[in-house]
Amino acid sequence: MGYENAWLNYRRLQGSAESTYFSSDCTDSQGRTARTAIEELKRAAREIFGLDMQEKSGTQDAGICLKLNREAAAGEEGYHIYEKDGRVTVESAGGRGLLYGSFALIRMLQTGRKIGGADLTEVPQNPIRILNHWDNMDGSIERGYSGNSFFFQDQKVLVNDRTRAYARLAASVGINASVINNVNVKGNATKLITETYRRELQEMAEIFADYGISLYLSLNFAAPMEIGGLDSADPLDENVREWWSRQMEDVFTGIPNFGGFLVKADSEGRPGPFTYGRTHADGANMLADAAAPYNGTIIWRCFVYNCQQDWRDRKTDRARSGYDNFMPLDGQFRENVVLQIKNGPMDFQVREPVSPLLGGLKKTNQILEVQIAQEYTGQQRHVCYLIPMFKEVLGFHTYCEKEKDTVADLVIGRTYGQTRCGMAAVANTGDDENWTGHDLAAANLYGFGRLAFHTDLSSEEIAGEWIRCTFGMQPEVVEKVSRILMMSWPAYEKYTSPLGIGWMVNPGYHYGPNVDGYEYDRWGTYHRADHMGIGVDRSSGGTGYAQQYHEPNASMYEKIETCPEELLLFFHHVPYSFRLKTGKTLIQHIYDSHFEGAEDVEKMVAEWESLREFLPEKIYQRVLARFEHQKEHSKEWRDQINSYFWRKSFVEDEKHRTIY
Ligand code: GCU
Repeated sequence: MGYENAWLNYRRLQGSAESTYFSSDCTDSQGRTARTAIEELKRAAREIFGLDMQEKSGTQDAGICLKLNREAAAGEEGYHIYEKDGRVTVESAGGRGLLYGSFALIRMLQTGRKIGGADLTEVPQNPIRILNHWDNMDGSIERGYSGNSFFFQDQKVLVNDRTRAYARLAASVGINASVINNVNVKGNATKLITETYRRELQEMAEIFADYGISLYLSLNFAAPMEIGGLDSADPLDENVREWWSRQMEDVFTGIPNFGGFLVKADSEGRPGPFTYGRTHADGANMLADAAAPYNGTIIWRCFVYNCQQDWRDRKTDRARSGYDNFMPLDGQFRENVVLQIKNGPMDFQVREPVSPLLGGLKKTNQILEVQIAQEYTGQQRHVCYLIPMFKEVLGFHTYCEKEKDTVADLVIGRTYGQTRCGMAAVANTGDDENWTGHDLAAANLYGFGRLAFHTDLSSEEIAGEWIRCTFGMQPEVVEKVSRILMMSWPAYEKYTSPLGIGWMVNPGYHYGPNVDGYEYDRWGTYHRADHMGIGVDRSSGGTGYAQQYHEPNASMYEKIETCPEELLLFFHHVPYSFRLKTGKTLIQHIYDSHFEGAEDVEKMVAEWESLREFLPEKIYQRVLARFEHQKEHSKEWRDQINSYFWRKSFVEDEKHRTIY
């Protein structure tokens, strides 16, 4: 069996009673997504039961009926699945709901849940569930670890079987929007909004629409100058505004089901409103006004910071910058603008505090941005299941209000009643056969979709579903792969940079240990280690970042005694002799955790090796090869970090292990 359909590789079920439902289906909806749902059910019937599903016109005698009910309580994207008298009904107020419900029904089969007697209602919590692809027009992918782009090649837009296969995978976990090009919009990518690529984008959008996915593009704020022949991109300039209005009209009326734009402005060298002395609200609102007639959404990123810092400057703090830039603008954005906020204030490190903008902003639509491309978490060569991290972020109490104050409450719109909000993930896909390079990295793609649909699902539940759908239901496989996934993020954290300090990677490509790699650079990512201690003082006496949180979080981070230990070095400069809650000194903790992390990898490899007989040889070997690399590489991390701190501190390891 090939694995090119990831978790949609249906396995044959022999002699299953559930097959009776899959002999016939019907729908009372004329919509295209309902049509897709019917096709998906047929495919599942064929692949799982070898049945040729018959389509009936009347709802009376079909095994599965997709029922469009505009009044359905589950809404347009939610569904109610119920079985009665030998017939299954999937009911929703919209086509997307019927499609998601159909995939849920198939998932029930694949995960061994009984359909007989089913009564299941699920409503997606996040209105926007979007993937951000950082794909370039030449076919490369910024921070891509799974081959090349399947959206672009040689400056052309690709539309082929993989486009449909992608839409199918994404929709099967409830993704309803996708940005196909890199946020760093340069060269021909700027022209994606023009006639040049219109036909291909129309075709792609049609395929996406079949699966209920809105196409989005990243745009270049300087496009009026680069391709419009204007001499300015000033958001308050009438000519610029008119140019954008015309452009938006073309795009929104020319591309079906077009959702809107993602914008990276005044960030890491990209153009933006600052050039004209304007604010981010001016910039975003100009685009929002142009998109408003088409109900288009402008997703504006908050990843704005000074990337020309001097390492000797201890007052400027990159962590502060998102809040400093955007808080003063709270309430100034149009209703169709959404600010997209990275989960932490830095950049997708293995451990960061939650961005204080989440819960800071009270009058602005918000999207939480996470990265499933494992840029800083092993680049899909190390296994690192990130859903537990996202769960922690979602569960964080911001104390923005007395109740409904978690990040999940905020992004699903429960706190302030917003409807344009949700979750975005920087995607981890490419044209590799298995989509994600590392087979186990697909759990992050699957998991992101499921979590965005339902923030209450646990990491274990999601892992369990993904494993069953991907590898089958054998208990050994489910148990061991689940253990590997659940161990993987903590292990990665242990053998890489300690206690929330982050970075310590090779500059540029961000892979592998290099403790001082970014220490004297301009990017604002310092650990400040000297012979006495390590960490950045972000309390009031330092950069003051801790004070960007609501109480009691601000006080908790402010003091060494109350700061959560996993973030100790993010918030404080701490002597190596400092005693942690375990009674260990900081330096001994660094040594121990690094040895432990590398040992954890050995355990994961052993678990995997014990699964050989249960897995297809090709998959087994492909993952094993990555594990072997991870094993060696985790030792390199361990040794580099431990040696660095031993040489800095001159404190011996109490256990006298080899440190170079
Ligand atoms: C990181 C990443 C860049 C990316 C940027 C962003 O800094 O390394 O490649 O462009 O994030 O999120 O815009």
